[in-house]
Amino acid sequence: MKYFIGIDLGTSSCKGILVDKVGNIIKSSSVEYGVSTPRENFSEQDPSDWLFAAKKILSELSAGVESDVYGLSFGGQMHGLVALDENDEVIRPCILWNDGRTEAETAYLNEKIGKSRLSALTGNIAFAGFTAPKILWLRENEPQNYAKIKKIMLPKDYLAYKLTGVFSTDYSDASGMLLLDVEHKCWSEEMCKICGVAPSWLPRLYESYEVTGKLLPEYNMPNCVVTAGAGDNAAAAVGTGCVESGSCNISLGTSGTVFISRDAFSVDEKNALHSFAHANGKYHLMGCILTAASARKWWLEDIIGTSDYAVDEEEIAKTETDVIFLPYLVGERSPHNDVNIRGAFIGLSGNTTRAQMSRAVMEGVAFALLDCVRISGVAPKRTMLCGGGARSRVWRQIIADVMNIPVDIPKTEQGPSYGAAMLAMVGSGEYETVEDAAREIVTVSETVTPQNHEKYERKYEIFTRLYPAIKEATK
Ligand code: XUL
Repeated sequence: MKYFIGIDLGTSSCKGILVDKVGNIIKSSSVEYGVSTPRENFSEQDPSDWLFAAKKILSELSAGVESDVYGLSFGGQMHGLVALDENDEVIRPCILWNDGRTEAETAYLNEKIGKSRLSALTGNIAFAGFTAPKILWLRENEPQNYAKIKKIMLPKDYLAYKLTGVFSTDYSDASGMLLLDVEHKCWSEEMCKICGVAPSWLPRLYESYEVTGKLLPEYNMPNCVVTAGAGDNAAAAVGTGCVESGSCNISLGTSGTVFISRDAFSVDEKNALHSFAHANGKYHLMGCILTAASARKWWLEDIIGTSDYAVDEEEIAKTETDVIFLPYLVGERSPHNDVNIRGAFIGLSGNTTRAQMSRAVMEGVAFALLDCVRISGVAPKRTMLCGGGARSRVWRQIIADVMNIPVDIPKTEQGPSYGAAMLAMVGSGEYETVEDAAREIVTVSETVTPQNHEKYERKYEIFTRLYPAIKEATK
């Protein structure tokens, strides 16, 4: 029997799955870790926590089948800055994708260097969570750390480096650094100069399905090749079969994303979305909101003080509400690019119930994702849905109703790890292309059709007026 391993280096946990060559999940394993927020707008993790988790997962998944594992790959939280010194030691905690400390550096890039120059060089404008502004922040605020840098890498590439000894990245994840010329798939020398990055600090670029090396002998999987892997959203899109041009995947994880696969490189009219490379060798457009399933978690676990999602789900299913929630708990990325905006409940009355507020949280996330779809200028005809939030039946229906398109639920909602396992299969020669693997492996278990779009039209219109109003009122 041949097996493949997909590792998803997420924000709340690292998850791994062992699958056979037709995509049956044989075993899964995960290890949770925390995010530290030493200051308002800061968000950091210690890369050694990831490594500990990944090693544990690898040994659990491979136990007893070590020689039957033929490929491994990664999906990983994007944009994080991991910096190593001359001894390959981590210099400081990783600054994560949802960190908002780089307001000044992002403004410098967008306003002084200019959005059109950035867009010409990379296909993208600067967002606070991207990697390049973090390097400028480090140079300004921690010069002693900046001076030690010999390598910079993205979170999943740190794992790959430690597990294989190969310093690599892939085009999809590298797209989010704002150092890559995405269209031409090479590092932008000019961006490196602008951001104070020595080209020698950067890893070698690969397609996500290309083999970069093998696991080090200590992991005892002698037949296992490792492929470069992908940013978690591109990996999730592979895992849900979103690889044909125009197909769409929505992910409800810690972040929420709308991912639109494109054969050709393109930029949305306002450059408000991300124009990135895809893990199948092509491209995609993506909108990313910073809080999605994490908004529900915050509301239920931190505010209400329960982790009984099932009871909440039952209550929400029976309720309707006029309450509107703005999910900007840590600022917002797409489309507003605003680290300082904060969330809100609007329209509360003395009769508002907990269930109505819970429902408003889910609807608010759906509206914020619709903002991304609207600005993309693309009208997807249907979408896949994955991520932890996709387990909620109510949320599936809300997404279908708000977007007014059918929502396909894949057999497995473990998008990034499933996609990573598929990239490993392609790298090891099991399938010729990512598209072949997707056709063979991904199945839809259920389709949710829109039932009630009209009621959301008016509500969404109000939602779109709230961001500018709150921004104005709180400045
Ligand atoms: C995408 C993004 C997030 C992280 C979450 O641009 O920042 O989706 O990748 O893991």
